[in-house]
Amino acid sequence: MKTGIFISGTGSNMEAVIKNFQKGSIPGVSEISFVLSDKKSAPGIEKAQKLGIHTIVLPKMKEESREEYEIRLFEAVRPFDTGLIVLAGFMKIIGSTFLSRYKGKIINIHPSLLPSFKGVDAQTQAFDYGVKISGCTVHFVDETLDGGPVILQKAVERYDSDTADDLKHRILEQEHRLLSEAVSIVAQGKYTIKGRLVLLERR
Ligand code: GRF
Repeated sequence: MKTGIFISGTGSNMEAVIKNFQKGSIPGVSEISFVLSDKKSAPGIEKAQKLGIHTIVLPKMKEESREEYEIRLFEAVRPFDTGLIVLAGFMKIIGSTFLSRYKGKIINIHPSLLPSFKGVDAQTQAFDYGVKISGCTVHFVDETLDGGPVILQKAVERYDSDTADDLKHRILEQEHRLLSEAVSIVAQGKYTIKGRLVLLERR
C-alpha cells in the first residue's frame, strides 16, 4: 500500500517509519510516497529529503478557511493515490473536508494512553497529573480530537526520579516502534473494526 506521512516538526516518528520501511521491516507498505509538512521550518523535511523521499511544504494561509486549506491539502496529495496517511506529529486538526476523502485511511500517533491526556503536550499533562503509567497510542483519525478507534497502545512506566523530559523521551522511543507496527497492520489490512474496537489478526 502506498503511504504518505504528514508532519509539522522534528519528524523522528516519520524518520523511524521511513527507515523501517527502507530496511524492509514494514510489510504491506509498497512505497512512502511523500512527506508533507504544514510548517516550512519543520526539521523533518530535510530528514525526509536525505532519506530520498519526496517532500511537500503546504502552510495554511492566514486568509484561507480550514475548508479551503483542506481542499488544497487534498489536491496536493491526491496525485499520489495513497491508501494510507500517517499523521506523525502533524499539529493541525483535520476536519471533515479532508477526512471525508480519506475515510478510515488516516492514522495518528499520540503520546499518551488515550483517552487520557488528549491534545497538546500530553506527556507533560500526564507528568503533572502524577500518573505512574503513561505511554502512547496509535489510532484511526475521525472527527473527534484524538478520539478515533485505537489500533495499538504501549504502556511506559513513570519513575519517581523522572523529569518530564525523561518521561517524554522514553515514550518517544516506544512511539518509534509502535507507529511502524501499526502502519504495517493497517497497510496489510490485518484488522476489522467492531464499533470502537479494532480487532487485530493474530500477529
Ligand atoms: C510525538 O510525540 C507524537 O506522538 C506527537 O508529536 C510528537 C512528534 O514528534 N503527536 P516527532 O516530530 O515525530 O519527533
